[in-house]
Amino acid sequence: MLPFPAFIPAHYQPEEKDLISMNSHMKDLETTINQLAKKGKGILAADESMATIGKRFEALKIESTEDNRRAYRELLMSTPGINEYIAGVILFEETLNQTTSNGMKFPDFLRSQSILPGIKVDKGLIPLINSTDEQATQGLDGLNERLAEYKSKGACFAKWRAVYAVSEKTPSRMAVKMNANSLAHYAALCQANGIVPIVEPEVLIDSNHTIERCAEVTENVLHAVFHSLHKYKVKLEYIVLKPSMVINGKQCPTKASAEQVGKMTVMVLRRTVPAAVPTINFLSGGQSPEEATANLNAMNMLAGNPWNLSYSYARALQDYCMKTWKGDAKNVSAAQAIFLQRAKLNSLASLGKYTSSLEKETSFA
Ligand code: 13P
Repeated sequence: MLPFPAFIPAHYQPEEKDLISMNSHMKDLETTINQLAKKGKGILAADESMATIGKRFEALKIESTEDNRRAYRELLMSTPGINEYIAGVILFEETLNQTTSNGMKFPDFLRSQSILPGIKVDKGLIPLINSTDEQATQGLDGLNERLAEYKSKGACFAKWRAVYAVSEKTPSRMAVKMNANSLAHYAALCQANGIVPIVEPEVLIDSNHTIERCAEVTENVLHAVFHSLHKYKVKLEYIVLKPSMVINGKQCPTKASAEQVGKMTVMVLRRTVPAAVPTINFLSGGQSPEEATANLNAMNMLAGNPWNLSYSYARALQDYCMKTWKGDAKNVSAAQAIFLQRAKLNSLASLGKYTSSLEKETSFA
């Protein structure tokens, strides 16, 4: 890895205090990214907001109490052997401040398992003004102070999610530009605090668009994101890109095969994502667990990718586990076994070694 001063372009004159603080965080950034980008490992997104976890619990008739959320997330993080497949866990702020049943803070517990703690730092979505059916992500106000606090509580990486609705008229140029700038501003603040930013531009799949339209939108979105990251002087060597896959919308009558998704996703990434980015960890975005695994595997079957291609799923890692747990302590071991198996299959997919026949070995398929 090049030392930080090598990244400063000739015209860039940082103030001395900024330079000192950035340099003092370089080691943290490097240690974190090296762990997150390890081959065969992925990131677990366990950072559902109160509203989202509430909805997921409600569907299974689990009450969304603070202790149920705590118990469920402890189940995930304490799954024996999970550190073989999971390098980091994205936490929601509530979990960052909670403890395991043995009284250990979750970030400390994760580190004791050689897993890195991360934190969702955006404050969710609001309607985008002067647009229809588009959303903006909030949370930049006070973010610098919050990042310093999260770091003091053990978080070494962070996540910010921007969403893009697909229709004939969307995403609008305004949404593409605004989200790119917010993602880049957030990423620059993270790095200035020694925190590796996960940059998450999600092209939503709950529409009827074709895979070709998704490719067009994703290419525009990623192009804008990397343009802004450059403008905000974000060091690409120390980010995780968390994109959506290039895939047809859920309502599209024509369903793309895993081979098509793999090929078109990699084509768009090659056009837009510099090789300096060490790792790309996809979101699952509403795909079934099996689809998300097969599509990731298809990408890793293609030779010559300059980045690690792995996973940072929430639903595709957790769905079967949560359904097995059902909020009942007696189901913990069975739920953990299912979660471990799903993580293992995705780890294989990140190496291009997954086959659908392996699904038969799981008790859920
Ligand atoms: P899904 O994998 O369920 O899309 O969630 C990923 C995530 O972190 C959303 O922000």
